Amino acid sequence: MYQRLYNHGIVRIDAERAHHLALRALATATSLPGGTCALAHYVPEPDERLRLRVWDQPFSNPLGVAAGLDKNGDAVEALIALGFGHIEVGTITLRPQPGNDRPRIWRVPEESAVINAMGFPSSGAAAVRAHLIGLRAKGIVGINIGKNRDTPLDEAAEDYAGLISILFPIANYFTINISSPNTPGLRSLQMADELAHLLATVRDANERAATLARRDPKPLLIKIAPDLTDAEIEGVADAAVANGARGIVATNTTTSRDGLPTHYGALPGGLSGPPLREQADHVVRVLYRRVGDQIPIIGVGGIASGADALARIRSGATLVQIYTGLTWAGPALPGQILRHLSADADRTGWHSILDLVGADAV
Ligand SMILES: Cc1cc2nc3c(=O)[nH]c(=O)nc-3n(C[C@H](O)[C@H](O)[C@H](O)COP(=O)(O)O)c2cc1C
Repeated sequence: MYQRLYNHGIVRIDAERAHHLALRALATATSLPGGTCALAHYVPEPDERLRLRVWDQPFSNPLGVAAGLDKNGDAVEALIALGFGHIEVGTITLRPQPGNDRPRIWRVPEESAVINAMGFPSSGAAAVRAHLIGLRAKGIVGINIGKNRDTPLDEAAEDYAGLISILFPIANYFTINISSPNTPGLRSLQMADELAHLLATVRDANERAATLARRDPKPLLIKIAPDLTDAEIEGVADAAVANGARGIVATNTTTSRDGLPTHYGALPGGLSGPPLREQADHVVRVLYRRVGDQIPIIGVGGIASGADALARIRSGATLVQIYTGLTWAGPALPGQILRHLSADADRTGWHSILDLVGADAV
């Protein structure tokens, strides 16, 4: 049904417009009487074997929505109703900004992939906080934060600190995005010295916000690029752990265009979807071997089926996320992935998804 709608309708619409229409349709569905029940039609019954606690917080299953899909938190309840255990809202910037000029999302139909050069369009921290503050989501809401384009790199840490203090009340965890290829210079913040300074500043802001709110500080994660050497991945992982990060999201989009028809090489931005799968999986394995006994890894990049999700968990991811796969396959995909995980448990007899994490990492 979704595939027919996609082939005959959605694919004719500009990719970004199609995205906004789909998000609005989802959000509207949950605001209508019976709408949430209609979405639940796609979702299997909860499976105890898929439940897990991460950072002492309850996830109904390991599958989440990757950042960028719901940048301003417009469809959190609808996405939870589709079966996701967590939603990573954002990237949110401190001040509102429009992002790059359009067009800035391109479909790659040969590979069911996407190239985007969004550049963090964001309503800004205050607006997203006002929008989400009353929400009692039935799942975990992560908040992905990034620096404004016009903030100089040597002042980036203050942007992230400001974002934490404003968004603290609405976040179950924070992801510090230092890996988008669409904000000039951002990826340089992954280098060990830069990361140490950034995390120290952000940790202070987190502790101050926690004291004010009389709560524990929120888990701070970093999101990394796939375009790093193994030594660089290990360097980022060591710096993350040494400076108090509680998890790593791996990975963002790639700047590589390997294997794509040559005309895609001229487009700016990051590539996502199946062409990224192996590269992102490799990063998870390297991270797991280095720091998997100390912090959880969220695996993201090219996951488009239950088999992909299972393989990424076995490579070392405690949680997994999807974006591009959902845009090509439609709202039935999360349910299909969860059913696949349950069927694997039936077949091979495992009792907790946590028992599989890293099973194939070495
Ligand atoms: C259109 C688009 C926008 C994105 N925006 C963000 C973003 O704002 N912040 C971020 O951390 N990642 C962003 N991403 C990257 C995704 O979160 C994810 O890391 C990447 O797409 C790989 O996963 P996938 O292959 O399942 O899409 C975006 C991806 C796409 C396709």
